[in-house]
Amino acid sequence: MAEKTASKRPFMVLRHAGPAERPALEELQWRASLVHPAYRGALLQDRSIVHLSAEHLRDGSAVVAEVDGKVAGFAIILSTGSGEAELDGLFVEPEMAGQGIGRALVEDARQRARVSGATVLKVVAALEVENFYRRCGFELAGETETLLGKALVMVQLLRD
Ligand SMILES: CC(C)(COP(=O)(O)OP(=O)(O)OC[C@H]1O[C@@H](n2cnc3c(N)ncnc32)[C@H](O)[C@@H]1OP(=O)(O)O)[C@@H](O)C(=O)NCCC(=O)NCCS
Repeated sequence: MAEKTASKRPFMVLRHAGPAERPALEELQWRASLVHPAYRGALLQDRSIVHLSAEHLRDGSAVVAEVDGKVAGFAIILSTGSGEAELDGLFVEPEMAGQGIGRALVEDARQRARVSGATVLKVVAALEVENFYRRCGFELAGETETLLGKALVMVQLLRD
C-alpha cells in the first residue's frame, strides 16, 4: 500500500511499516509520548511502557506517514473482530506536529477499519488529546485506566 494525500498538508506517503522499523518507531513513540508532562514521570521510571508488538509490524497493522522520505508519524489499527476496530497507537514526531499528519493517519485508519468490515472505530485517548480526537470525529464514550493513568474511551461510527 502506498497512498498519497493531496491537500494543504505536507506531501505525505502512507505505507505499511515493516518489522525492521520497530526500534525507530519505538524511538518516535518515546519522543512523542514525552510531550505530555503528566506522563513524563511514569515513562522515565519505566521505559518499557513504550513497546511495539512485533506482530503488529508483521501483519500490516502499523501504518507510517512519510514526509520528504522521513517517517513523521505512525498508527496501529487493530480489528477486534466484533464490528469494532481500535486505533491502538497514534504518534507524530513532535517537530512535525500541527501539520495534519495525525488527522491523515486517523482518516487512513477510518478507511481501513471500514474496509475490514468494522462499524465502529475506538481509541483509548490520553486526557490531553481529547480535543484532537473530537476534531477527528470521535465522541467520548467513557473512561478507563492505563499504565499511564486515567484515559478516555472515544468512539466514532463508520459510515459510507
Ligand atoms: C496528538 C497527535 C497525534 C496530533 O497529531 P498532529 O499531527 O499534531 O495533529 P493534526 O495537525 O493532524 O491536528 C488535527 C486537528 O487537531 C488539533 N489538535 C492537534 N493536537 C491537539 C491537541 N493536543 N489538543 C487539541 N487539539 C489538537 C489541531 O489543531 C487540528 O485542528 P483543526 O481541526 O483546526 O485543523 C500528536 O500531537 C502526538 O503524537 N502527540 C503525542 C502522542 C499522543 O498523545 N498520541 C495520542 C495517544 S492517545
